[in-house]
Amino acid sequence: PVRLGRELAPTRVEVVPVIGSTNQHWLESIPGLEKGDVCLAECQTAGRGRRGRHWVSPFGGQLILSLYWRLEQGMAAAMGLSLVVGIAVVEALQAQGFEGVQLKWPNDLYLGGRKLAGILVEMSGTAGGPCHLVIGMGLNLLLPKDEQTRIDQPWAELAELGEIADRNALVVALVGYLQRYLALFEREGIAAFREQWNRLDYFNGKPVRVLMGEQEVHGRARGIDDQGALLLELDNGEIKRFLGGEISLRGA
Ligand code: BTN
Repeated sequence: PVRLGRELAPTRVEVVPVIGSTNQHWLESIPGLEKGDVCLAECQTAGRGRRGRHWVSPFGGQLILSLYWRLEQGMAAAMGLSLVVGIAVVEALQAQGFEGVQLKWPNDLYLGGRKLAGILVEMSGTAGGPCHLVIGMGLNLLLPKDEQTRIDQPWAELAELGEIADRNALVVALVGYLQRYLALFEREGIAAFREQWNRLDYFNGKPVRVLMGEQEVHGRARGIDDQGALLLELDNGEIKRFLGGEISLRGA
């Protein structure tokens, strides 16, 4: 059982051994959910990644979590939220003694230049109404080294940083940080997190490529601005902003 501190106390923590996708399940459960409610799974058979990709989540190898949140001000208020999710996760890991995890814009967690965790924020809502968010995270703990675990990019595991003695404590820390930081984000916006982000940004100061469909822009990453936009310094010194959408960031 997962115990949560008094100030956090989500009304619901649902733990399922095997499921298609915790995000899908939580999206379908929205009418009955309260802000901060969490779904945990041991294994996903149809895990979803960003840009419609499949997310490999073998039994017991990952911390698989979806958290429900709601923004009364609607969709527009969600801009920058996914950056805050990454920061909350990194700081929760630090609080549990796992140091050295970095962020890759907008919300991948990196360890030694390899992917440690992926975050997928899915939204629903109608014009003029609240924005419903399901924040999903798959964090590699210790993956089974078998044929089924085929991940198509360099990946890292939390176990590289030390023994994972207590998964429940890890979940409590993660949920606590997520809830507190999301509440702070609602009050103060992404600008309140800019410094933290720039400190944790894996690519900050490094040469990168920004890919937008067929288009590719080269430059040096310069962190984020007060709207959470990615800043890229071009060779001519000009600063170009990227505000999310279908773009991806790579090392040059
Ligand atoms: C990525 O592509 O990097 C994002 C991966 C997000 C995976 C998590 S695992 C829990 C939640 N449920 C899903 O189906 N996806 C997210």
